[in-house]
Amino acid sequence: MLVPICARGTLAQEALLVLGRRESPGCGKLEAMIVTLPSLDPKLDLFAAIEDLKRERRAVVLAHYYQDPDIQDVADHLGDSLALAQAAAKTDAEVIAFAGVHFMAETAKILNPGKVVVLPDLAAGCSLADTCPAPELRALKERYPDHVVVSYINCTAEVKALSDVIVTSSNAERIVRSIPDERGIIFAPDRNLGRYLIQKTGRDMVLWQGSCIVHETFSARRLQALRLEHPGALILAHPECEEPVLAIADVIGSTNALLKYVADHPTGTYLVATEPGILHQMAKAAPQATLVPAPPAEGTCACNECPHMKLNTLEKLYLSLRDLTPRIELPEDLRLAALKPIQRMLELSR
Ligand code: 13P
Ligand code: SF4
Repeated sequence: MLVPICARGTLAQEALLVLGRRESPGCGKLEAMIVTLPSLDPKLDLFAAIEDLKRERRAVVLAHYYQDPDIQDVADHLGDSLALAQAAAKTDAEVIAFAGVHFMAETAKILNPGKVVVLPDLAAGCSLADTCPAPELRALKERYPDHVVVSYINCTAEVKALSDVIVTSSNAERIVRSIPDERGIIFAPDRNLGRYLIQKTGRDMVLWQGSCIVHETFSARRLQALRLEHPGALILAHPECEEPVLAIADVIGSTNALLKYVADHPTGTYLVATEPGILHQMAKAAPQATLVPAPPAEGTCACNECPHMKLNTLEKLYLSLRDLTPRIELPEDLRLAALKPIQRMLELSR
């Protein structure tokens, strides 16, 4: 049973039961388990308590734009995957509480192994990372031994360890262009970002056929209909969206790039085809803009919210800072192997 979490700043009194995973989320071996969260004092002011714990623990909270607004509001660093990896690499805090998904927290631990890295809900995986088990990528590499393996950061440490360079949606085009023309490229795991990069760079690439359950749910047909209701509206889309959506989009970019576009053009009307958590920052950056979250396709029970990201709550963030658990740990040989392609990405992103 998943107990609904209560409103801002208050707490459910009963114990919370959540479905979780026992082993490395994203590796494809999911094992359901029940985690019982302790009851918390309903009068506790979570916002103040989190600030106190941050000071006591010498902790920073890093949060992705897809987190709940409450979590975004207590974050020390808010950003897209690249900005959060950069922040994790350079923080001198002793604890990193990563309000995002497992591969993001794992990347923080890979980059900054001396820190305690906690993820408020260890079950916060990523459906895209789940599409790419490392043994299958290894088999593909064996078929194309001369190819450079470029992996989107939304993948496990094991997949990173098999990769030559990591990219995010902020730097993928630049990094692909930096690869010598004569080299073949395997791109994993997001086929939509991969196809978009092929169009942008003209590079032929062997694409892993993974996709994100959130971004593949947006429908070009429904966006067209919505545009008729909002004449003059621009469609903003993340490159993880499918081709028909990208084909009608006015602006394509990472979460950070889409946010920047709205901040730079603050009076527009925008149909936003990415996870709606980003609307919280867009509304702050451009209070006069009209922001409409893109709807999921008709006839599907899919939702445009990321169910993994939304597993994190303010209560779980508080508990992770209080108890310094659940922690991200990984074997040193795996960490070192995964570090190399991430460092290459950071060098190419300067
Ligand atoms: P960015 O924030 O890097 O654009 O990534 C989006 C995403 O899907 C994260 O899981
Ligand atoms: Fe993974 Fe998609 Fe959720 Fe991002 S939005 S964490 S890619 S499932």
